[in-house]
Amino acid sequence: MAIHPPPATAGFTLPSYERQPGVHPPLDFADYRSTALRAPSRPLVLLPHRLTEITGPLLGEGRVTAADADLTAGSGGEALGQRIIVTGRVLDSRGNPVPGTLIEVWQANAAGRYAHSADSHPAPLDPNFTGAGRCLTDSEGRYRFLTIRPGAYPWRNHPNAWRPAHIHFSLFGRAFPQRLVTQMYFADDPLFGQDPIFNSIPDPRARQRLIARFDLGLTEPERALGYEWDIVLRGRDGCVFEQRDGQR
Ligand SMILES: [Fe+2]
Repeated sequence: MAIHPPPATAGFTLPSYERQPGVHPPLDFADYRSTALRAPSRPLVLLPHRLTEITGPLLGEGRVTAADADLTAGSGGEALGQRIIVTGRVLDSRGNPVPGTLIEVWQANAAGRYAHSADSHPAPLDPNFTGAGRCLTDSEGRYRFLTIRPGAYPWRNHPNAWRPAHIHFSLFGRAFPQRLVTQMYFADDPLFGQDPIFNSIPDPRARQRLIARFDLGLTEPERALGYEWDIVLRGRDGCVFEQRDGQR
């Protein structure tokens, strides 16, 4: 839908961001049924950013620890499933690294079940897997998680609907409005063809930018398989970010 241009105030025009047509999914996508309930039906309203929005979050030193990036270590033992390393860099449109980005991830367990009260899918929960992790990108913009390969799960969007295996990513910049949310997928997933969330992205090349690359060189022998996924914030190679709450 169209986003109305920002208002000009006393000769001063707020900058707007260039949007790439055909890349981002529409807010209301018929095949993804619940978007009809969430898509705005009226013009968007520009909310001015005040002190709270532009000075937070303040993470402070040491609040994010190395242990936060290991999702496999439960309180009573190790999580079940295929261990994987997911790593990559956060880059701007010119390929420059973006350090200090807070990356938060959440995902289903190996059986395709979220450790969340809203998930009633009758697959087993893993007491040693919360599915949530976080880390900060380093000086090269790199992040790294050790986790479990998530399972597919059904979601009743349409008959026999299953989500392809995916990990949800949230990126926080230096202020609350600088939050971007997306999903990372795995190559050759047989469920891509019937997934309206993946296919709501109009540009097939943009869909491919959400798929992690298996890299044997990142694999830890006898420990975990390795995947690489770079997140480009804007521009020609930009990642697709979600514009709607409640994404599955
Ligand atoms: Fe999900």
